[in-house]
Amino acid sequence: MPLDTPNREWDTLVMGRRGTYEPGLEIGITSPCNHLKQYVFSTTLEPVDNPQVEIVDTDPVELVRRLKKEEGLNIWLCGGGNLAGQLIDEIDQLIIKSSPVIASEGVQAFTGNFQPTQLTVTTRQEFSSGARVTWFDRT
Ligand SMILES: NC(=O)c1ccc[n+]([C@@H]2O[C@H](COP(=O)([O-])OP(=O)(O)OC[C@H]3O[C@@H](n4cnc5c(N)ncnc54)[C@H](OP(=O)(O)O)[C@@H]3O)[C@@H](O)[C@H]2O)c1
Repeated sequence: MPLDTPNREWDTLVMGRRGTYEPGLEIGITSPCNHLKQYVFSTTLEPVDNPQVEIVDTDPVELVRRLKKEEGLNIWLCGGGNLAGQLIDEIDQLIIKSSPVIASEGVQAFTGNFQPTQLTVTTRQEFSSGARVTWFDRT
């Protein structure tokens, strides 16, 4: 795909510092998704020299509510589970990919003090590899 292909679904990404942003940073990648405006939540990281990446230490709910009011495409909550738990009430759609492998003991998709939330399956796509993608909307 050409590098200047316009975004179709998302133009913004929010993520946590530790397991999500830092692995790329450790190998010199400051902007892992340069076609998106990226907000990295951290109380410890210094600002990076790239206008596409903002290190933020503010209330994630307030930031996401403000971003939702702006013109543009959707916002991708990339992880991890603690940030997802903080933002659970702002999540309008969940996309879960599963593969037929046991790769580790697993990490939690949501952690923290969130409320159980009912979702509705809207689309499900199966692949010959056994992988499956499911789209859920908030009920
Ligand atoms: N499947 C996928 O698509 C996908 C994508 C991304 C990540 N992941 C997985 O998700 C896991 C990452 O989770 P993780 O537990 O390492 O957490 P993480 O969300 O990547 O990072 C947690 C860090 O985010 C910062 N943070 C979180 N909330 C904040 C807030 N309200 N204000 C300021 N900073 C905040 C803190 O950084 P400071 O300590 O700097 O303050 C905290 O230590 C990894 O296992 C990774 O493989 C999966």
